[in-house]
Amino acid sequence: MKFTTALFALIPLIYALPAPEGDLGALSARTQGNVRVCVDAGFTGDCTTLHGSSGECVNVPLVFNDNISSVGPDPGQDCFFFMQANCGGSSLGPIRVPGIPNLNIDADVAFNDAISSFS
Ligand SMILES: *[C@@H]1O[C@H](CO)[C@@H](O)[C@H](O)[C@H]1NC(C)=O
Repeated sequence: MKFTTALFALIPLIYALPAPEGDLGALSARTQGNVRVCVDAGFTGDCTTLHGSSGECVNVPLVFNDNISSVGPDPGQDCFFFMQANCGGSSLGPIRVPGIPNLNIDADVAFNDAISSFS
């Protein structure tokens, strides 16, 4: 996933300020770049939370390869999903909160059970 430029621009500012613990926790939750993926639509069936970081390509685990029907990025990020490993092939994105609960619909059906990586 790619973080918004705005979020990146805020990071030095936020770290420069004496922020309460809770605010830092919320920031780190967003900057981890987590994406929830599930085998079935509506975030059901086997699910896992994949960990990414900005600008990095992540291949999905083998059991989820070509097997994902719903995707839910954490807040504050633009996520791109790819049909091939190493962020190759056709891409779908940017996907933001709340993600796509059902890839098995006309607009996205080519990506249903077809995602192999994301960034
Ligand atoms: C898809 O996920 C389900 C549930 O985890 C699993 O049983 C099945 O083997 C997976 N299919 C493939 C092709 O990996």
